[in-house]
Amino acid sequence: MKLTLHVWRQKSGSHAGRLERYQHNSVNPHMSFLEMLDVLNEELIAKGQEPVAFDHDCREGICGSCGFMINGIAHGPQRGTTVCQLHMRHFKDGDELYLEPWRAKAFPVVKDLVVDRSAFDRIITSGGFISANTGSAQDGNTLLVPKQNADLSMDAAACIGCGACVASCPNGAAALFTGAKISHLALLPQGQPERYSRVSKMVAQVKEELFGSCTNIGECEAVCPKEIKLEVIARMNRDYLKAVWTERGDAAPDEG
Ligand code: SF4
Ligand code: FES
Repeated sequence: MKLTLHVWRQKSGSHAGRLERYQHNSVNPHMSFLEMLDVLNEELIAKGQEPVAFDHDCREGICGSCGFMINGIAHGPQRGTTVCQLHMRHFKDGDELYLEPWRAKAFPVVKDLVVDRSAFDRIITSGGFISANTGSAQDGNTLLVPKQNADLSMDAAACIGCGACVASCPNGAAALFTGAKISHLALLPQGQPERYSRVSKMVAQVKEELFGSCTNIGECEAVCPKEIKLEVIARMNRDYLKAVWTERGDAAPDEG
């Protein structure tokens, strides 16, 4: 396969960036998208040119390191797929592809397709954990969890923190990510003692970072490689409302 690639090249956050055109004539349809870039980089290095910088680690869709825009779609055209799991057989010979980094104020460009997602780490550090020492692993079924909650919690815990939701949102909101991280703990018994202080702290940290507000557009859900559902945002908002009302001493909505 032959492809024409237009790749965003930017030396650092303080340099101006531009799209650079590359003709890639040795694309194997069985390659993953990142392997295709590896081959391009080998060719660039052989010519004495700077390789394209992109983030990656597991290349199995589980670590959340990879991700960039392919023709304006976060992680590319295949639904529920990270860019490391996207294979070249989904493209056609002669395709023209535009590769750009996540575009969001809260994710400044580090180099080429690499952005700084440490704002996500700070949201987790603000409260996305359980502070009690839980000791060694419990025997199975010692702590009973309703099946529906276990399933919903597991679905939310699938979030890999890639940032595609932020990059796709016209507001640059981090609501799907934060809602997923809040939901997977809010649905389990272990998450209950700090449930409302956790949501207060994490939402406060989201406001501290340069993320926008959620206006329920839903683009985040459409591009999420782990198919996290918008309902995690509803759960976060309900818990946040309850935290605010409880702080004020008002009657709070029911838990759910
Ligand atoms: S919610 Fe989805 S798109 Fe957003 S960070 Fe998590 S896995 Fe990535
Ligand atoms: S490299 Fe780990 S999810 Fe893509």
